[in-house]
Amino acid sequence: MLIAQITDTHIKAAGKLAYRRVDTAASLARVIDHVNGFTPAVDAVILSGDLTDAGRPEEFELLLHHLGRLKAPWYVIPGNHDKADTFRKAFAGTRYQPDDLPFYQYVVDDHPIRLIGLDSTVAGKPHGFMSPEKLDWLDARLTEAPDRPTLLFVHHPPFVAGIRHMDVQRLLNGDELMAVAGRHKQVRHLACGHLHRACEQVINGIGVSTGPCAAHAVTLDLDPEGAPGFSLEPAMMRLFYIDEAGQVLTHLSMIGDFEGPYPFFDAEGCLID
Ligand SMILES: [Fe+2]
Ligand SMILES: [Fe+2]
Repeated sequence: MLIAQITDTHIKAAGKLAYRRVDTAASLARVIDHVNGFTPAVDAVILSGDLTDAGRPEEFELLLHHLGRLKAPWYVIPGNHDKADTFRKAFAGTRYQPDDLPFYQYVVDDHPIRLIGLDSTVAGKPHGFMSPEKLDWLDARLTEAPDRPTLLFVHHPPFVAGIRHMDVQRLLNGDELMAVAGRHKQVRHLACGHLHRACEQVINGIGVSTGPCAAHAVTLDLDPEGAPGFSLEPAMMRLFYIDEAGQVLTHLSMIGDFEGPYPFFDAEGCLID
């Protein structure tokens, strides 16, 4: 099974550039083409928050216009740039709108791996935090299906990446989330957004990753005095390859036109010398 991760699309109103520089809608269109054109077909797409830049209704409208082109089923969770009320309104009627909860968390049981979307947002704040209610809900969902390999996804990463202005707005109680996840052996991976870079760490035996952004990257600046900034690096997306045992392996897939593929072997089957 293949799951693509699209994250931090930061969609603005039509014709507006993010930070006066980034055409986020064009980047989303390209990553959707990339997902739709992938062989073998992508089975599901997770969208891990900051889907809009300011949570405005017109931004969600444009986002939904683009998401309508995705061939695979897609699942959204909110990020700090999305606003809870407009987010809920925009996705009302989609299959996994958790109407009965005060937060945006849900389970998808339609695939060989169980997907659990989590809500790390704190109204009006850039950082993430998971309330005891959210963590208890997760613990209960994991307790009810101990034999189903499970992939969790949440916007804010629980780890320190060394990029100071992002680290102060990570999932502040990430250790509590990982303690809950670590109690359940079926949890195979935690996929996050927010960082606009591809990072990986193992916490409590669980692989944790952040997805790269197909639009603007947070600059890789490990200087503690470094100023917050972004760079227009090659666009990428993360792809999860899940084997029959439910083990999760991740790839980064570059978006764009590159030379190749070229053959290793000639017509006679010999390695080209
Ligand atoms: Fe973001
Ligand atoms: Fe974010």
